[in-house]
Amino acid sequence: QPIRLIDYRPPEFLIDELLLTFRLKQRGTLVQASSMIRRNPSADRRNGPLRLCGEQLQLVELRLDDRRISLQDVCVTDWELIIENVPDVFKLQITTRVDPEDNTALSGLYRSSAIYCTQCEAEGFRRITYFLDRPDVLARYTTRIEAPQEECPVLLANGNLVAAGEMDDGFHFAEWQDPFPKPSYLFALVAGDLVKIEDEFVTASGRRVTLQIYVHERNRNKCKHAMVSLKKAMRWDEQVYGREYDLDQYMIVAVDDFNMGAMENKGLNLFNAKYVLADPRSATDQDYLAIEGVIAHEYFHNWTGNRITCRDWFQLSLKEGLTVFRDQQFSADMNSAAVQRIEDVRLLRQFQFREDAGPMAHPVRPDQYLEINNFYTVTIYNKGAEVIRMLHTLLGPETFRRGMDLYFQRHDGQAVTCDDFVAALADAADRDLTRFKHWYVQAGTPRLTVTEQWDERHCTYVVTVAQATPATPGQPDKLPLHLPLLVGLLGSDGGDLAARVSCPYERRGNDLLLELKEVQQDFVFREVPEKPVLSFLRGFSAPVIVNPFQSREEAAFVMQHDSDLFNRWDAAFSLAEAVILECLAKLVAAETMELDPVYLEAIHYLVGHPTDDRSLTALALQLPAENHLLQALKQIDPVALHEARRFVKQELAGRLADGLLNLYHDNEPSATYRLTGDQVGRRSLRAVCLDYLVLLGEEQQDLLELCAHQYRQGGTMTEKIGALSALAQVPGALRDEIFDHFENQWRSDPLVMDKWFALQAASPAADTYDRVKKLLDHPAFSLKNPNKVRSLLGVFGQNHVHFHHESGRGYRLLADRICQLDPLNPQLAARLMQPFVTWRRYTKDRRQLMEQILQEIGGQAGISRDVYEIVSKSLAPT
Ligand code: ARG
Ligand code: ZN
Repeated sequence: QPIRLIDYRPPEFLIDELLLTFRLKQRGTLVQASSMIRRNPSADRRNGPLRLCGEQLQLVELRLDDRRISLQDVCVTDWELIIENVPDVFKLQITTRVDPEDNTALSGLYRSSAIYCTQCEAEGFRRITYFLDRPDVLARYTTRIEAPQEECPVLLANGNLVAAGEMDDGFHFAEWQDPFPKPSYLFALVAGDLVKIEDEFVTASGRRVTLQIYVHERNRNKCKHAMVSLKKAMRWDEQVYGREYDLDQYMIVAVDDFNMGAMENKGLNLFNAKYVLADPRSATDQDYLAIEGVIAHEYFHNWTGNRITCRDWFQLSLKEGLTVFRDQQFSADMNSAAVQRIEDVRLLRQFQFREDAGPMAHPVRPDQYLEINNFYTVTIYNKGAEVIRMLHTLLGPETFRRGMDLYFQRHDGQAVTCDDFVAALADAADRDLTRFKHWYVQAGTPRLTVTEQWDERHCTYVVTVAQATPATPGQPDKLPLHLPLLVGLLGSDGGDLAARVSCPYERRGNDLLLELKEVQQDFVFREVPEKPVLSFLRGFSAPVIVNPFQSREEAAFVMQHDSDLFNRWDAAFSLAEAVILECLAKLVAAETMELDPVYLEAIHYLVGHPTDDRSLTALALQLPAENHLLQALKQIDPVALHEARRFVKQELAGRLADGLLNLYHDNEPSATYRLTGDQVGRRSLRAVCLDYLVLLGEEQQDLLELCAHQYRQGGTMTEKIGALSALAQVPGALRDEIFDHFENQWRSDPLVMDKWFALQAASPAADTYDRVKKLLDHPAFSLKNPNKVRSLLGVFGQNHVHFHHESGRGYRLLADRICQLDPLNPQLAARLMQPFVTWRRYTKDRRQLMEQILQEIGGQAGISRDVYEIVSKSLAPT
């Protein structure tokens, strides 16, 4: 039953031209699809029937070469339309009926806040009409939309507007033509009552492009940042990749109900409103940065995804990994590169490493799936981006760019594979990347073991690196990988020694590039003036876990001196990790926990000597998330883990209170909102300080008041959320008062209410379960809105203390909603399963409870393929 990569065959038919006519109604929308179809000359088989995909469709009429075919003469199943004995070339006209209003799956044509819209990736187009709904069938689309003028003054589709006018019965129409052949997953249509914000971009070669953002009237004033971001992204892609936009118009539409972040439909991007709308009063700095990143991501897809697309869905990372890499590069250029890298790595470690270590582990290019929507994962996206980043590091920026140029030149207009991509880079670089390609086919996070040898007498320093990738489901034995290790050697004064040593490795600025290809390799450095401290894996040059090999003193040294800002942060991070895990071990052994003095001193220094990049200081002060820490444990007791982490946090707060308070007061942001590194840094540093200080609130009421004061006086949402999230940790009258106040003020702004839900669902406070339970009945909550579901239920699933409550009530709460949601929106229901997937890693009682729940969900009548796949993989014997 699974779809397998080895079964790939070229399509038996091709569709070159498609004319779609929509007559929009909330129920009973009619879709006429008229296409020119021919047999594929390069297909394996030349005489088979025509098989078109289709789901949830009502077939109304069928015409072949203008002659009506009786529906009795064709075969219609729940997922296919089969027509026997078709000629080699013919015209096919299909009329189907769909009900946008009842489409709660948010795939295909649906309505969101009175707006008709579509989501076709990966397989939504087949919910609009019968079609060859696969990415290697590229057609030219013409779309005619007919809709009631009153209800839908705005009618949009891909490409250029070629005709528009009035019709009878209060209907009007618009006709759009997309000159670029595209796969069906890039089709889009929007109709509704929207206002447009317009701007212009002149491309490097002087073409004028009209930029439009469409939103509900009430959001008219929240689009400026998205527009600025779009223009920055367009310029950046010209400057860094030489890629220009190719249509006269670029449209973005914000909708309230969206399963993912956004969608790169040709010329007509659809966005989750969360990634478009912002003003300083209602959006945080994080929101602003996320908008910039997602706008860029979708724009960059125009070349990496749309002009060159995927042959099949196993190649999804071809476009997603590459486009994430490009958006990360862009954000690094627009903001602080070190901060960007740290955020990317935090996400990778917390979520991708976790996925890679569990039953859903899969390679960047998977080889089978039941439901492709389950494979829009952190592995495909973020590990995929790391794979591209490694290529960029191995080749160097210039050669990488030449490789990209060759890729665009060779494959423009085609649907290709990850192999094609690597081949273009290998050819441009004139390098053999065969071993590197193991990254695409092998799941699991490699572990590196590092040993150092210092030969004082010969001034020789040797680093031995060994690699091993643990077994993953279906892949017991692992091949060695080819990976770039950027390293530095630090002298006792903290300076880089690299320039002064003798070694055969390529220099990259301050760094040396070591290439690991074998299971184990020695890297030898001669004429080293003194015993160096190793700065290993600078900038996180490969997505691996490095087994701790340095003393805490050495880590503290790197933390203070490394010229690589990422490694400075990483040293603080791994030091904190070691300290928390040590406390946890003590807690479990019923010994008294205490804070390592080396760590305390390092943090003390950090607080006393903040760097100019305040965001970096803020990041270094943040303890690793529980989601990250638990990966190091053989058997997870989430409550004990939380206690150990909380102990370290509380200790730090107590010992560093004065320093934190000084930092807080020294970093007041300006009253007017500016999104500069300096201002963002101030706000985030203050939030971190509050997050510690509030823990002392029991004894020092004035520290709670500090939060309350920031909440009341802060002019930006960033400051308000900073105060709220600190306060969420300390239940009491003040917390309740401020959360109520916030709710009253924002109850009619759905995006702000999402934050309010999420903060409560994430809270470690004792009353969280009861609150979440109550919030499920809150008038602003709805199972039909994915943002709400993610904010409340998704976040609750990541709340280690309360989701994993020993009674099992947290599991029950989530499981019940998943079962309720599955018939409505299986994609989203499957996402919510995530916290159950790693059930085997937990303590025995929890394991049993989760196993039971998984079996129960798996036994639901009418369970979706989406949820079924997650359940069956989770329960599969190891
Ligand atoms: N291609 C989109 C993006 O990453 C994601 C859309 C995925 N949607 C889905 N239903 N699987 O930009
Ligand atoms: Zn994408």
